[in-house]
Amino acid sequence: MLVSGLFFMPVKNQNLAIIGAQWGDEGKGKIVDLLCGDFDVVARFQGGHNAGHTVRFGEHHFSLHLVPSGILHPHKLCILGNGMVIDPQALLNEIESLRSLGVQIDDNLRISESAHCILPFHAALDVAREEAAGPAKIGTTGRGIGPAYETKVSRYGIRIGDLINPPALKEKIDLACAEKNPVLESVYGKPKFDPRELYDRYLAFGEILRDRITNTCLLINESIAAGRPILFEGAQGTFLDIDHGTYPFVTSSNCVVGGICTGLGVAPKHIHSVTAVVKAYTTRVGGGPFPTELTDAMGDHLRKRGNEYGTTTGRPRRTGWLDLPLLRSASMLNGIDRIALTKLDVLDDCKEIPVCTSYKVRGSTWQTFPATTLAHHEYEPVYKVLKGWNRSTVGTRNFDQLPDEARAYVRFIEDETRCPISIISTGPRREETILR
Ligand code: IMP
Repeated sequence: MLVSGLFFMPVKNQNLAIIGAQWGDEGKGKIVDLLCGDFDVVARFQGGHNAGHTVRFGEHHFSLHLVPSGILHPHKLCILGNGMVIDPQALLNEIESLRSLGVQIDDNLRISESAHCILPFHAALDVAREEAAGPAKIGTTGRGIGPAYETKVSRYGIRIGDLINPPALKEKIDLACAEKNPVLESVYGKPKFDPRELYDRYLAFGEILRDRITNTCLLINESIAAGRPILFEGAQGTFLDIDHGTYPFVTSSNCVVGGICTGLGVAPKHIHSVTAVVKAYTTRVGGGPFPTELTDAMGDHLRKRGNEYGTTTGRPRRTGWLDLPLLRSASMLNGIDRIALTKLDVLDDCKEIPVCTSYKVRGSTWQTFPATTLAHHEYEPVYKVLKGWNRSTVGTRNFDQLPDEARAYVRFIEDETRCPISIISTGPRREETILR
C-alpha cells in the first residue's frame, strides 16, 4: 500500500532532498520509500555500497545499498549519480537479489558514466589500513569507499564510462595497479592484484551494464526541464560528511545537501526543499566522538529494542540520547525545512528521556555542535530530562493518539530546532507512520 500521495502533497514539480541529520542510519530508506510515490525520479548523489537502507512493507523486507529506494516503486527513474563510487560486482549482486524478490529492474535504473569504480585493490587498501591503524582506526565499512574517492581526486580513477572503452580501461587499470600493488605489498604485506585479470573482469561488467551507462547529468536536467519532480536520496548523514562531519571519523563524500549539486550536476535553485531524517535518539557506527553516548544498560536497551545493528556490516551501533546541538548544526548546514522523526516507539519503555540541549565548553555554553574533533572530550553535554510515556506507540498512525508525553517530546524537538516535524515513524513498516 502506498500511503504517501494521500497525505504528503508537494507543490507540483518541486524537487525534494532527503538527508540524514545525524551519523547515518536514521531511517532514510523508509522515508524515501514513503514519499517517492510523489516523484518521477529518485537519484543518489554520493557514497557507495557503504550505505544500507532497509525498507519493509507487509512481509517484504528489502536491503538496499547502491540502488535508490525508489526502485521498489514501478515507473520511477532511478539514477546513480556522478558523485558516487560504484563497485560493479556489488551493484550486479544487488540487482540480482532485488529481482529475486520480484522487483522490476530494466531501463528504470541508470548509472552515470562519470561515477567512479571501486576496484578490489581499493577494498584491500581500506581493510589493510584499518588493520594497521589499530585502536586509531576509523571503523570503515571496509568496502573501499575512501581509497576509491582518493583515486578520483588523484585524477587517475577508473570511471564507469571507462568500462565500455577497452583501451582506456586497460591503460587506467595498468596505471592504478602500478601504484597500488607496491603499496599493498611493501607497506601492508598484502597480495597484489593482476591487472590483466582485473581488466577482463571489469570489461565484462561493462558489457553487462552498457545499456544503463549514460550522461545522467543531462538526463536529470532534462527531467527538471520537463517538470518531472525529483527526489534526491542522501546516504550516510551530515556528521559523516567529509567537510562538515567529525573528521577524520567520517566517510569520504559530501553527505550534506550541497553534495547534490556536484554529485548530480544539479543547480542549487532546483533543490526546492529539504527534509532531514532524525532518529528519536542518536546512534553511530564506527569510531569518533559521540558526546551523548550511553555505555550502560540503557544503551544496550536502545540497541536491542531499536535493532541497532548495521545493515551493511552487521556491526552493533553505538547508542545515545538525542543531541539538539547536533540537529541545530545539521539544520544550518542543510537548510532543513522539515524533519521526519524515526523510531519514536523505541523510546516507549524509558521512564525518563534526557535530551542534550547544549554543551558546556570551557565555561561557556554552545548551542551548536562543536566542530573540532580533537577537543571533543572538553565538551560536556547539558541535559534536560523529559518524562517518558511508558506505553506502546508501535504502529500509531495519528498524532492525537500518541501519549501526551510523546507529543511533548515531538514538540520539544520542534521548538528547539525550529523545524516542523511532518513525519513520525512508529515502526519499520510503511504503514507504521504518522503524517502531519
Ligand atoms: P566508510 O564510508 O566505509 O569509509 O566508513 C567511514 C565511516 O562512516 C565509518 O564510521 C562507517 O561506519 C561510517 N558509515 C559509512 N556508511 C555508513 C552508513 O550508511 N551508515 C552509518 N555509518 C556509515
